[in-house]
Amino acid sequence: MTSAFVRRGGQLHADQLSLAEIAAVYGTPCYVYSRTAIESAWQELDTALAPHPHQICYAVKANSNLAVLDLMARMGSGFDVVSGGELARVIAAGGDPARVVFSGVAKTDKELEQALTVGVGCINLESVSEIGRLERIASDLGVTAPVALRVNPDVDPRTHPYISTGLKENKFGVDIATATEIYARIASSPQLSPKGIDCHIGSQLTDLEPLVDAISRVLALVDQLRADGIDLDHIDIGGGLGIRYQDEQPPSFDEYAQQILTLFNGRKEAIVVEPGRSMVGNAGVLVTQVIGLKPGVEKNFALVDAAMNDLLRPALYNAWHDIEPVSTDSPPATMAWDIVGPVCETGDFLGQERQLALQEGDLLAVMSCGAYGFTMASNYNSRPRPAEVMVAGDAHYLIRKRETVEQLFELECGLPG
Ligand code: LLP
Repeated sequence: MTSAFVRRGGQLHADQLSLAEIAAVYGTPCYVYSRTAIESAWQELDTALAPHPHQICYAVKANSNLAVLDLMARMGSGFDVVSGGELARVIAAGGDPARVVFSGVAKTDKELEQALTVGVGCINLESVSEIGRLERIASDLGVTAPVALRVNPDVDPRTHPYISTGLKENKFGVDIATATEIYARIASSPQLSPKGIDCHIGSQLTDLEPLVDAISRVLALVDQLRADGIDLDHIDIGGGLGIRYQDEQPPSFDEYAQQILTLFNGRKEAIVVEPGRSMVGNAGVLVTQVIGLKPGVEKNFALVDAAMNDLLRPALYNAWHDIEPVSTDSPPATMAWDIVGPVCETGDFLGQERQLALQEGDLLAVMSCGAYGFTMASNYNSRPRPAEVMVAGDAHYLIRKRETVEQLFELECGLPG
């Protein structure tokens, strides 16, 4: 993906617009996404997978703004959702429910009913308990539920432990060794129609070997199922392709697709992929302003107006995001700064020990924030969540207003009397 964020004449731009201009219009903190970057990532992956029947089901959790979902829907994307809320968003944005896969380890009865009522393309089952509940609900509604079973192939994705999902010890899916038995149960049910199989081993994968290993195990299982008389239409290999945050060298869409296409060569099942981060991660930044500088003996703190409630990844995973000055005009001497927010937690940092030339009032861009940025934001410390802005060429539009403090307590009722 070509970067949408480039420096021209000392000013960091999103497409044709300077981030300083965007910040002047919408204030800070503020998420800025490039429509062009999102479109080009989706198109690149779609083209790379073109030699085989496939469907991209964008993982809504990465960035679920309605405008982003609308963009995906216009390109013909399907969606991977994990809650009734995400499903409702996809439909509100004009997404086709028939191209939705509904994943999630603990779907409620209400969510299963919602999925069947709107007609999702496939429900990815994650436990035997869920099978029984879905049968009952499908029977009450008088429909047949299209399903896949999420299998846990027990491979180590070699990523952060919090975002690895395909190990035996993880809560997701069912042990691959038990899958043939469970498929037999599914196939014998009048309420269920086995459409596919699903696995997702983890996120931010920078090495394709574990994924190839997992897919190979799944393909062997699919062949076994066929021998047992159960034919599947699609194989959903999940998401997980990593992006560059710092100095990682993740595979390109082409390299990723090549590995997959080789494994699927000669097979008739369609490929389903559920990419999230790789579609939007490097298409977004968080713009924040330096409120004050607090140089010290041990540490120099740059106090900024964005915090862990706006971008949780550094606090939660110790994740690295590049932090760049929006303007590099006449910088003073550079020193090492911890970029910290106003939240009352020591873990409230966006970056540590960053060599930057800073002055009060400067704007900073926290890079690679398009995925798992706003979607993981909270109102901790009664902080309204940031505005979200989409840039397309030289146009910009607000796609989510900045929250107000009044909105934060709108749903609270107070004591009676
Ligand atoms: N499919 C399933 C079933 C998933 O659980 C996920 C992500 C995806 C697809 C999309 O994965 P991606 O292509 O984005 O790697 N909050 C963490 C990431 C959590 C990912 C959870 N599942 C972070 O900020 O790094």
